[in-house]
Amino acid sequence: MPAKINRQMVIAGIPQDRLEVSHYAMSEAPVSELGENQTLVRTLLISMDPVSRTRITGAPGGLQIGDVMPSSGIGQVVASRHPDFTEGQIVECQTGWQDYSVHGPEALSTFARLGPLTHHLSLYGVSGLTGYFGMAEAGGPNPGETVLVSAAGGAVGHIAGQVAKIRGARVVGIVSSQEKADWLTGTLGYDAAIDRRAGPLSGAIKQACPDGVDLYFDNVGGEMLETALTRMKDHGRIVICGYASQYDTQTPATATRGVPSVVLYKRLRIDGYVVMDYYDQKQTARGQLAAWLEADKLKLSIDLLEGLERAPEGFVGLFNGENRGKRMIQVAEEE
Ligand SMILES: NC(=O)c1ccc[n+]([C@@H]2O[C@H](COP(=O)([O-])OP(=O)(O)OC[C@H]3O[C@@H](n4cnc5c(N)ncnc54)[C@H](OP(=O)(O)O)[C@@H]3O)[C@@H](O)[C@H]2O)c1
Repeated sequence: MPAKINRQMVIAGIPQDRLEVSHYAMSEAPVSELGENQTLVRTLLISMDPVSRTRITGAPGGLQIGDVMPSSGIGQVVASRHPDFTEGQIVECQTGWQDYSVHGPEALSTFARLGPLTHHLSLYGVSGLTGYFGMAEAGGPNPGETVLVSAAGGAVGHIAGQVAKIRGARVVGIVSSQEKADWLTGTLGYDAAIDRRAGPLSGAIKQACPDGVDLYFDNVGGEMLETALTRMKDHGRIVICGYASQYDTQTPATATRGVPSVVLYKRLRIDGYVVMDYYDQKQTARGQLAAWLEADKLKLSIDLLEGLERAPEGFVGLFNGENRGKRMIQVAEEE
């Protein structure tokens, strides 16, 4: 039988500054034979995660030209030499941007189905859980508080914002277009939304949060964090979930400049937050998210592009704010 061909999207160039579609190229390789205990997985869905951009700097230990772009995803077992995995099973793993991947048992996980696979890569996966725990647990908004969320229409942000709404807070989102801002207020139920490209951010936050911000859920870092600091109430809290504004560059900003003085005089609390710290409560969170979805208290937005060849365009688009909700690539259909 001829060997299966594996299409792979590989790194074709290291960006000097911003990532472009031309930094990727499609190549083909035969699918390797399975070793003892190994499992062959056919990729169904791949996750678009902005932080992966930080691995394409050309630095030793990072991605190099010819490497397959790494990514988590969901796939279906095609063949296995391990007793725990059988043909047709659905698994989560590091699929990478390719049609097939080979894994040992420790690199594969199965899950109880709560809905379509797209829900498992979004709401019940890392993004949804990050929004849920980041807001419900790390942030802990109280009824009536003003909560500001950056990248508020993204995979994590659109869940975090809605969790704050469910908890009774007044929620304001920051996004990159008026159209996206209208979607936050019109469809997701945000109380107000700011187009970060429309004008000076400080004035826009002041207008949307006239009494100041109690809780800032930050996905973006950089200047946006510095600006938001000055709009915090005394004793305000900040959850640092990510710093997406610093991913798509070869020269991320490191300076904290005026940050310490603002933190000091406003008596702010800034918490670094990593979703994995809450994984012992994963099943409870999934149950809660499923119940809110079912009751239409929470809306899930999936931004699906079809075809492995669209992965570079889909990924680059994250840094232009093109996505609404969780962006993912459908590589193949479940069989
Ligand atoms: N702490 C954790 O455990 C954890 C786990 C997963 C993800 N994260 C972090 O959560 C954040 C959101 O991730 P995600 O997967 O949900 O991505 P996402 O929000 O779906 O996509 C990234 C968004 O970032 C915004 N953005 C991109 N470049 C920007 C820039 N230069 N300035 C301002 N905003 C910019 C854009 O939103 P707009 O169009 O709305 O401006 C874009 O849609 C990331 O920082 C990620 O690293 C953290």
